[in-house]
Amino acid sequence: MEKGRMLYEGKAKKVYETDNPEYRIVSYKDDATAFNGEKKGTIVGKGAINNQMSNLLFQMLAKNGIPTHFVEELSERETVVKAVEIVPLEVVVRNVTAGSMAKRLGLEEGRELSHPIVEFYYKRDDLGDPLVTDAQIEVLELAPAKIRDEIREMALQVNELLARFMADRGILLVDFKLEFGVTESGELLLADEISPDTCRFWDIETKEKLDKDRFRRDLGNVEGAYQEMMKRVSEVQN
Ligand code: TMP
Repeated sequence: MEKGRMLYEGKAKKVYETDNPEYRIVSYKDDATAFNGEKKGTIVGKGAINNQMSNLLFQMLAKNGIPTHFVEELSERETVVKAVEIVPLEVVVRNVTAGSMAKRLGLEEGRELSHPIVEFYYKRDDLGDPLVTDAQIEVLELAPAKIRDEIREMALQVNELLARFMADRGILLVDFKLEFGVTESGELLLADEISPDTCRFWDIETKEKLDKDRFRRDLGNVEGAYQEMMKRVSEVQN
C-alpha cells in the first residue's frame, strides 16, 4: 500500500492518504503532550509501542465482535486503517476514580465505582475538550442520538473485554478514552488508538502507574512503564 499525501497531523500521530480511498495509513510519533498541549516532551519508543499495542488490542476486540478501523500493520510505527469520519466525541469509560473525575468531584483516586460509567467530551482543543451532556450532543448535532447510544453500548462492551484481558495480565483498567468513526457507507467503527497514552493502567498488586500519568505528573521511568505494558499485553495466555 502506497503512502500518499499527509491529511492530518495530530499531537501523537500523522494520517496519510493511500491509493485506495477506503484506506488510510497512520504513523505513530514519539511526541507526548499533556494538558491540551501545554506540556510537551518525547517518550522514546512510544510510537512503536502504541502502534503495536493498539493493533493487538483492536484484533482482540474484533475477535470478540467489536468492529474496528484496524486493517494491517505495515511496520513498527505504521498501520493501514479504514478511512472514517471521526465523531467529535472523546468517550471516557471509568471503573475506578482517578484523574479529572477525582479532581472535579473532590474524590480520592483509586475508589472502585459501583458500576462502570461513560462520559462524553466534545473534541475541541480550543475549548479544552469540555464534558457534554446527551442534550448538548443533540442540540450541537455532534452525533445523532442513535449513534451516541450505539457508541455508549460499544464503549461498555470494550470495557468488559479490555478489563478482563488486562486483569489476566495483572493490570487494573482504571479508565480509558475511545474515539469512534463512521465510514463512507455509514458503518460505525472503533477508531484512534488504545495505548498507555489513552488509558490508565495500574499494576493490580502494587497499584504502580504504568501509563501516561508518569509523564503528566513527572513520576519518572516513563519509557519503562510503556515497555512493561507492552510486555504484559504481548504475554501469551495458556
Ligand atoms: P481524565 O481523568 O483526565 O478525564 O482522563 C480520562 C481518561 O482519558 C484517561 O485514561 C486518560 C484519557 N485521556 C486521553 O486519552 N486524552 C486526553 O486528552 C485526556 C484528557 C484523557
